[in-house]
Amino acid sequence: MGTVKCIGILTSGGDAPGMNAAIRAVTRSAIYNGIEVKGIYHGYRGLISGEIKPFKTENVSNIIQQGGTILKTARCKEFQTPEGRQLAYETLRNEGIDALVVIGGDGSLTGARIFAQEFDYPIIGLPGTIDNDLYGTDLTIGYDTALNTIMEAVDKIRDTASSHERLFFIEVMGRDAGFLALNGAIATGCEAAIIPEIYTEIDQLKELVENGFRKSKNSSIVLVAESPTTGGAMQLAERVKNEYPQYDVRVTILGHIQRGGSPSAQDRILASRLGAAAIDALLEGQRNVMVGIRNDEIVYVPFSKAVKQDKPINRELLDTLRRLSI
Ligand code: F6P
Repeated sequence: MGTVKCIGILTSGGDAPGMNAAIRAVTRSAIYNGIEVKGIYHGYRGLISGEIKPFKTENVSNIIQQGGTILKTARCKEFQTPEGRQLAYETLRNEGIDALVVIGGDGSLTGARIFAQEFDYPIIGLPGTIDNDLYGTDLTIGYDTALNTIMEAVDKIRDTASSHERLFFIEVMGRDAGFLALNGAIATGCEAAIIPEIYTEIDQLKELVENGFRKSKNSSIVLVAESPTTGGAMQLAERVKNEYPQYDVRVTILGHIQRGGSPSAQDRILASRLGAAAIDALLEGQRNVMVGIRNDEIVYVPFSKAVKQDKPINRELLDTLRRLSI
């Protein structure tokens, strides 16, 4: 690979708090190293249609504290087709962009992996998703902020749960992953977390009721990961109404409140470190890797591993939650 002179940067998939801090870090670190930067708007869609603007250091001023993404984002069906990717490649050539930094989750980095292979094109990925479901990194950008948002919301709902002596199912995000639900449940002293990773192993609801939850309490909160596997909080509440009518059950779906807001200190620092490391990776001649963090050290994870392998849930966390909810 020749020397990288100009990089493009885009955000793709669901927005996550800290994406702006990552855009800032990539842009400034590139400019610091004499590399030109172009901002690509609306993710892969803007790459196909050529929504591109040169970025100077002032384009990323005052954004470290902002949620969302100044580059906008999208989930792009066209990029999933060979024709769409061909158009994207032509844009990159016309713009003189010789490497890409893609900030996004599982779907976005899958797109990056396919494109990089097809066109032998250098791409560095940054894990930007509140779900924390990318393999090879302990944390993803946005996860910590989302977890804190969940914690604040659940703390508030607990007031009603306890005053009315109710059972609450609170649905949290994490399409196919239970990290938000499990750690959110530990952080808020919930009775249980119903997560896709162990859903098929046991009937979590049955276990919960049969183990006598509410033994020592008169209200209960269960966090449920939004997922086709768990069926979500509504479905579980319906089951309780039918199978255990003695409970006064309510549902709260936290929804997109979890993706918004100013990033936490941890997310800002993580995004800044990963963004700077993305440029180091390019300078070292790395390509087609996701920059992650493990045991507080920067790591480079091949796309094939980051997106194809499922990140395992730490069973010790499940056990801790069980033990502390008696
Ligand atoms: O992948 C991030 C995520 O927030 C998931 O947790 C959630 O299931 C999904 O995006 C929601 O996406 P959308 O905003 O497109 O409805």
